Amino acid sequence: MKRIFLIYIWFYAASMMAQTAYKEFKPGQLWLDDKGNHINAHGGGFLYYNDTYYWFGEHKESGKMGHKALVGVHVYSSKDLYNWKDEGVALAMANDTTSMLQKECLLERPKVIYNKKTKKFVMWFHHELKDQGYKAALTGVAVSDNVTGPYRYISSFRLHPNVWASNFTVAQQQNVTLATKEGVEKKQKKIDGVIMCRDFESGQMSRDMNLFVDEDEQAYHITASEENQTLIISKLSDDYLSMTDEYVRVFPGEANEAPAIFKKDGKYFMFSSYTTGWKPNPGRLAVSDNMMSGWKALENPCRGNELERKTTFHSQSTYVIPVVGKKDAYIFVGDRWISDNLKDSRYIWLPVQFKNGLPFLKWNDSWNLDFFDK
Ligand code: GAL
Repeated sequence: MKRIFLIYIWFYAASMMAQTAYKEFKPGQLWLDDKGNHINAHGGGFLYYNDTYYWFGEHKESGKMGHKALVGVHVYSSKDLYNWKDEGVALAMANDTTSMLQKECLLERPKVIYNKKTKKFVMWFHHELKDQGYKAALTGVAVSDNVTGPYRYISSFRLHPNVWASNFTVAQQQNVTLATKEGVEKKQKKIDGVIMCRDFESGQMSRDMNLFVDEDEQAYHITASEENQTLIISKLSDDYLSMTDEYVRVFPGEANEAPAIFKKDGKYFMFSSYTTGWKPNPGRLAVSDNMMSGWKALENPCRGNELERKTTFHSQSTYVIPVVGKKDAYIFVGDRWISDNLKDSRYIWLPVQFKNGLPFLKWNDSWNLDFFDK
């Protein structure tokens, strides 16, 4: 009897929690979904489709195994960006031990885009193979007819085998002789392009990644390559399911991770981070008039005290959400990783502000979309 009573109380409390509608963002706080659970969609990506926002992210578990993919890509939906409904697992990990997607592999930073021509939803993600740490450095792709899934896994691969980046010079290509297939000496790693040469035949590495769809529907894949030292931006095929051969290296040797791109007034802006694992580091910002050339690094976009600037408000970028129906309204989305319990990691959402046309970020304990009407 007592047990039934306790269960009743639990359901009552959970339903009360679920009924509390959020009216603002509270960066860094627990953020409950419609079932009363902290949203479990880390390293997330967002898609606006049919008057609804969808949030895709890494489902993390508590404890030691937390960084491994045990469940899959979790998806939530929302009409207002504050209140999120749990839509379940969009891409599930496989029990089959012969599957590339078997449980305990790593699946990070999933992003979904919609292809208007094929009417398919296409998911890309950073994929590492079971028990191989971060060695495989693959990008993976999956597809679905429905936004919330189930997504069908297609494949995972290294980028552009036997194709040079279009901005990689002949002189740099000659480093091939210097970079043996067996591996590159530590001292040689510093030479620009050596890793690209090492991986020329097998394909370039792909770790932290993101997607960006331009106004002309061209989609781009942006990723940390060459042992996380250099970003690679590639054009996706028209159906978004594969890569074209067209790609460029961006910021060689400058160790950018966690790229997140948005476009305003014809300019592309990219937030990114340095490479310090789960630990936060100073935020980075870059600008260009063209996705495939001319990227220029700008100063740290974070305004605030030293700690906030040094740690990007204790977060790492993952996405920038354009707010539909509001002018110049963009939300910076970052992860505040809690490395010993990744499931409990928090979400840092801040309004992107502009001065002289350049974006910057400032801390806000709580804020809502009216911020953009000021
Ligand atoms: C970060 C990266 C995360 C995750 C982590 C693992 O640098 O952005 O997505 O891979 O390293 O240490």
